[in-house]
Amino acid sequence: MDSKTDAQRPPSQSYGAASSPQRIRPVADMEKIASLCKRRGFIFQSSEIYGGLNGSWDYGPLGVELKRNLKNYWWHVMVHERDDVVGMDGSILMNRAVWKASGHEDTFSDPMVDCRSCKARLRADQVIERKGVRQCPNCGGKDLTEPRPFNLMFKTYVGATEDESSITYLRPETAQSIFVQFKNVLEVSRKKLPFGIAQIGKAFRNEINPRNFTFRSREFEQMELEYFCRAEEGVNLLDYWLEERLKFYENIGILRDKLHARKVPDDERAFYSKGTYDIEYDFPFGRQELEGVAYRTDYDLQQHIKASGKSLDYFDEETKQRFVPHVIEPSAGVDRTVLALICEAYSEDEAPDEKGKMEKRIVLRFHPRIAPIKCGIFPLLRNNAQLVAKAKEIVDLLRPHMFIFYDESGAIGRRYRRQDEIGTPFGVTVDFETLGEKDAALRDTVTLRERDSMKQERVAINDLPDILRSRIS
Ligand code: GLY
Repeated sequence: MDSKTDAQRPPSQSYGAASSPQRIRPVADMEKIASLCKRRGFIFQSSEIYGGLNGSWDYGPLGVELKRNLKNYWWHVMVHERDDVVGMDGSILMNRAVWKASGHEDTFSDPMVDCRSCKARLRADQVIERKGVRQCPNCGGKDLTEPRPFNLMFKTYVGATEDESSITYLRPETAQSIFVQFKNVLEVSRKKLPFGIAQIGKAFRNEINPRNFTFRSREFEQMELEYFCRAEEGVNLLDYWLEERLKFYENIGILRDKLHARKVPDDERAFYSKGTYDIEYDFPFGRQELEGVAYRTDYDLQQHIKASGKSLDYFDEETKQRFVPHVIEPSAGVDRTVLALICEAYSEDEAPDEKGKMEKRIVLRFHPRIAPIKCGIFPLLRNNAQLVAKAKEIVDLLRPHMFIFYDESGAIGRRYRRQDEIGTPFGVTVDFETLGEKDAALRDTVTLRERDSMKQERVAINDLPDILRSRIS
């Protein structure tokens, strides 16, 4: 098997934090990232032809694949690979009583300030203070209202009458449907403590100022686990889950040194929490939270017991004790993690064009596990029926195993570059050697090109499914 690179440069990259501590740092900048996301179909502004809707985003053909790969991997690690976690999928609309009991109706708010000069509505923590005087960050005006609470839940009405009795909210977190179904899930799954219930789903928060591209959106997805345990296990399990979750991010290609576990200080923590960590990532716009790992004690279950009058306790067969379990909650944002994956993957280097002249190359160095498309398949020439037929055979061979993309248009270097820009980790090229025209020994072999190093190797077509599967997972 021969080995060369299309840029004739030494291989410098491999995937993921664990395998490559010296990986080249991304040169991400948010403008370039937002422009790439739109140009290549990762993320579009919602309702774009009508001027958009602030805080809402649509995922295009590649974005939806990336997001699905992330969610599937989370589900695989958090549910399928464990025998102490089961899943559920709760409804977005719930009885209003849930949000009264959970405390969201009374306290899920941000302090808001209005600028009387430019009419901007601001979160209180965005107001600038100069020499003890509060100023609007938009216009510099000093005529600001006092802070007042603004509830972040989207209110709606269920049924045909719009009155007090029909009010409910779009859920601001997926966690509460897990708490209120705790007893049902416990009974059907017959799990013993400690055990968890996992859920991935949409949540909604009417953020005062959505910002930083998709980072703070009004409609977003969460991946949440509620892990129920005995009170005496809580503190150790908090540390256990923090470590598990940090490993998860490394396994999807986010370098450990870009992740930070911040212990949330007492005065920032919910009063019922006995410990919370924020897992933060160094975004181009600053260090921001991807996930909270919180020890919520038995607060949520107790609230629902009080409000509903139903028992949400656990009976320990061995000790014959009945008690309300405590809970550890790793709660991750899907959209934030997708954005972190794109920021982490974005890089620019150089590669030769058709004439050998070096040109800028944009590469998304996604871990193959989460890359939207796993392999590009290219006949060297589109007007050669034999090359095209062979390439289509390879499409049929690989399609049952992975998401692939067939491309016959343009010079081969251009086709590689298009796949590099969307993070496709592998490319297979069918050339005249594949047809056995130069050397019969090379019949039914192809060039397998790796995105980051641009290294090429000659492999047998029949070996492709196994080689690619082993490099992707
Ligand atoms: N359930 C915790 C959160 O949504 O942040």
